[in-house]
Amino acid sequence: MDHRGRRSRLAQLLPDSLVLLLGHTATVRDHPADHHPFRQDATFLYFTGLDEPDAALLVDTASGESTLFGVEPDLEDIVWHGPRPPLAERAATAGADSYRSASDLPSALAGRTPLTLPAPRPSQRDQLQDLLGDVAPSHDLIRAVAQLREVKDEEEIAEIDQALERARRLHAAAMAAISPGCEVAAVARHLGEVVAGTGGEWAYPVIFTTHGEVLHQFGQTGRMEAGDLLLHDGGVTSDGGYASDVTRTMPVTGTFDGRAEALYDIVFDAQALALAMMRPGVAWRDVHHAVGRKILEGFADLGLCGGDLDAAAEDGAYGLVFPHGVGHLLGIEVHDMEGLGEDLVGYDAEFVRSDVFGPSNLRFGKPLREGMVITVEPGAYLIGPLIERFRADGDFDGFWDWERLEDWVGVGGVRIEDVVRVTVDGAEVLGPPIPRTKPEVEEAMA
Ligand code: GLY
Ligand code: MN
Ligand code: MN
Repeated sequence: MDHRGRRSRLAQLLPDSLVLLLGHTATVRDHPADHHPFRQDATFLYFTGLDEPDAALLVDTASGESTLFGVEPDLEDIVWHGPRPPLAERAATAGADSYRSASDLPSALAGRTPLTLPAPRPSQRDQLQDLLGDVAPSHDLIRAVAQLREVKDEEEIAEIDQALERARRLHAAAMAAISPGCEVAAVARHLGEVVAGTGGEWAYPVIFTTHGEVLHQFGQTGRMEAGDLLLHDGGVTSDGGYASDVTRTMPVTGTFDGRAEALYDIVFDAQALALAMMRPGVAWRDVHHAVGRKILEGFADLGLCGGDLDAAAEDGAYGLVFPHGVGHLLGIEVHDMEGLGEDLVGYDAEFVRSDVFGPSNLRFGKPLREGMVITVEPGAYLIGPLIERFRADGDFDGFWDWERLEDWVGVGGVRIEDVVRVTVDGAEVLGPPIPRTKPEVEEAMA
């Protein structure tokens, strides 16, 4: 990947600036030589390609020069962790003009205050505090980084496609393995082996559950029973560390019917609407709202609510059954760049986050740009405690039919999620097809 080119584009957006990009340090598990698997800071990886701990890059956008700060492997390192390339080689990989020891960073900065990004991990915060004291992250730098990273180039798309091909294998294995009587945890363990067999890793903790109404249900318990819906939100990384993020929901019996089928149809139609609306210039918050309105329409057709759907949607009625956002940017991180500040990356002065429950959870609301990669993941959920809360608040009396809705609790939740690229005049679902229509899912489970 053209890391130097990316830094040049950053320099065009932020001329005459000094920018400090910090990589991550290794996270100690319980002994200094015993680490959690290393995961690089995504912005540092984007601008350097260096997937190793204890590095920093200082970019002078006036001269266009970058200096890599890092650690030469010493004998202790080599004994415990094996040989590592010398700093010179790593600087060449990153296209840096020069390199210095990480211990020189304080003197290199002496008297100068570089622009910095938010530090998602405590170790980075401590490092910034030691180097610069109480310096706030630069909003200009955050917005410039977001402007670059939010549009994916062809090499990044190839990574995401590889991650999605691995996700296809994962979801095919899940659909083949699900049947009444299976222990949920046993199938999830099998899926872990499938992920390892692809050469990737889980892109985030898998959600594999018969309680799909719990949005991020981590951990697997219980047995699949006929009548249950199984929600599987699972993604795999590419060789270059890019994410995939795919959800399929299926009846444990392998045949859609009854209320589960009705819920599936609502979500399927909502996803189709989102895909049809997508093109450059369309605000993602408007897609979210249209999807929420469409989901209400589905519940109205089932007799669970009724009245003025437009007014109810404006008031946030759909947050009851669709409490999360319709999608988020995806890239090196599954929720790309949210660590830089959701409101700075996903909103601006014109597109402001809603304070209405439901749309308030939309992490990105700005207009789409060609080349953006974003998940499209509507859902519909019967969440007992949330229904009780809405009912007690009384705001939607006369709109929601509380008795009928409460009778549906237990159906669970449906989410359908794909990774989509915004094209010049529309959108395309990335990756190979993964069964999504009811006949496709039923065939894959047969
Ligand atoms: N897998 C988490 C999400 O869909 O956002
Ligand atoms: Mn997602
Ligand atoms: Mn997901």
